[in-house]
Amino acid sequence: MLTYDLIVIGGGPGGYLAAERAAHAGCATLLIEKQALGGVCLNEGCVPSKTLLQSAKTYDHAKHAAAYGVGCDNVTIDQSAVIGRKNKVVRTLVSGIKAKLKAAGVTVIMEEAIITGKTAEGYTVSAGNTTYMGKHLIIATGSSAAIPPIPGVRENLGSYVLTNREILDLTEIPQKLTIIGGGVIGLEMAAYYATVGSAVTVVEMLPHIAGNTDFEISAILQKELEKRGVTFLLGHKCLQVELGTVTAESPNGEKITIPADKVLLSIGRRANTAGLGLETIGVKVAQTGIPTDTMCRTNVPGVYAIGDVNGHHMLAHTAYREAEVAVSNILGKPDVMRYHANPSVIYTQPEVASVGKTEEDCKQKNLDYEVAKLSMRYSGRFVAENEGGDGLCKIIIDKKRRTILGVHLIGAYAGEIIWGAAQMLEMNLRVTDARQIIFPHPTVSEIIRETLWEFHD
Ligand code: FAD
Ligand code: NAI
Repeated sequence: MLTYDLIVIGGGPGGYLAAERAAHAGCATLLIEKQALGGVCLNEGCVPSKTLLQSAKTYDHAKHAAAYGVGCDNVTIDQSAVIGRKNKVVRTLVSGIKAKLKAAGVTVIMEEAIITGKTAEGYTVSAGNTTYMGKHLIIATGSSAAIPPIPGVRENLGSYVLTNREILDLTEIPQKLTIIGGGVIGLEMAAYYATVGSAVTVVEMLPHIAGNTDFEISAILQKELEKRGVTFLLGHKCLQVELGTVTAESPNGEKITIPADKVLLSIGRRANTAGLGLETIGVKVAQTGIPTDTMCRTNVPGVYAIGDVNGHHMLAHTAYREAEVAVSNILGKPDVMRYHANPSVIYTQPEVASVGKTEEDCKQKNLDYEVAKLSMRYSGRFVAENEGGDGLCKIIIDKKRRTILGVHLIGAYAGEIIWGAAQMLEMNLRVTDARQIIFPHPTVSEIIRETLWEFHD
């Protein structure tokens, strides 16, 4: 039987990075992927959605070019060409991953992996017709779109009711798009399809959009998307999906029929644990995924779970860092995840980026906190580049210790800036420490520095 120091199951961002890092460190590493290297992120998630959103941004800029003194008539968008470019971007990045894994010396097998048991030497995994032995296992099998038992959903899945997989491949822009779920996928796709011409309605069961985003920021995002023509039905429960319509129930029990040419289902994702053979080695599975500690260890020694499958934060950059933490621990170099400094970004226009506690978190935990806010219009670069635009920087600190608890941004470049704020949280900086950082001028990032000076000592 072929024996490896490490077997990684799943070749998404978590899995491919873990395999690459482990192989670089000298481990004999096998990576098993059943579908496509790059996982959801590269093939049907982060990268395709951001590629589409860039086309929408370019289209929007061209339509509003006159505000910048630039003439640009008869602006059109060609959805087939948008999808063609997306496919090219995906191909380029997937081949980059293949090359990196090859250079690192990782053995890659394109098969479905099933864990079959444990021996004194390690864990056995079958793939194709072969059984492999791994002294350590990293499970990085990711997640899939949740499919609710709403009548009409399963029957029409893939053709009329779409998940992230199909919506990112539509070569025709639907006239009427109804989105069930106003979370991250729903909002990014609402932003794209509303910009390119669909009449978009978002049905969200909560009274607000964007899940755990700070409410002040999500309210601004909602207004901005409404200006772009998106209709939000908040506090509405989806009852039924039929060809041409979606029926929802309003908060006061009224039945509403929404016309739809296509329906996007984006109500969350479920960890891929079924059929993996986890029970053969006793790995615990919870409803949210495989429980892990901050070292990414499961309840079984030598077996780690990283990325979406552990359900901590279903984000690609979390998977990357978890990959490094798991590999370091396998190599005997203790390392931990610090989830409190994990940033998140919603790539709508305007962009939203956050790290740390929201004001709602602080209230719920009864923390003694203080807030400072500043409009993005205090940034010279923002005003120069965003004709008529606005946004917000909101910083939350611990009132007594003066340490930074959370930073929340809405506006252009927010996603590119937030890592700096994450570092402030990671290093537990106080306001006075953070004020000493020199920010380049003119940049939108300076808004963080300006907002820090809004706190009174
Ligand atoms: P995945 O990327 O899901 O990869 C898991 C891999 O495991 C898959 O390739 C699968 O085929 C394989 N696999 C599963 N079971 C087996 C098996 N038994 N044998 C072999 N292989 C198996 N995150 C961000 O941070 N930023 C974004 O902008 C962003 N945008 C997104 C947009 C969309 C539309 C979606 C759906 C997600 C987005 N995400 C984003 C989330 C991000 O895609 C995930 O967090 C990330 O892909 C998780 O990486 P992973 O390695 O855990 O799993
Ligand atoms: P989500 O958890 O972000 O949002 C789902 C939304 O659907 C929630 O607001 C929820 O209240 C609502 N909902 C649930 N059931 C419903 C129902 N029956 N009717 C109406 N609304 C309902 O999930 P989403 O958007 O599917 O994305 C999954 C995950 O993918 C995200 O949580 C995130 O981790 C990741 N992702 C990250 C992105 C990024 O980082 N920019 C982009 C896209 C996805």
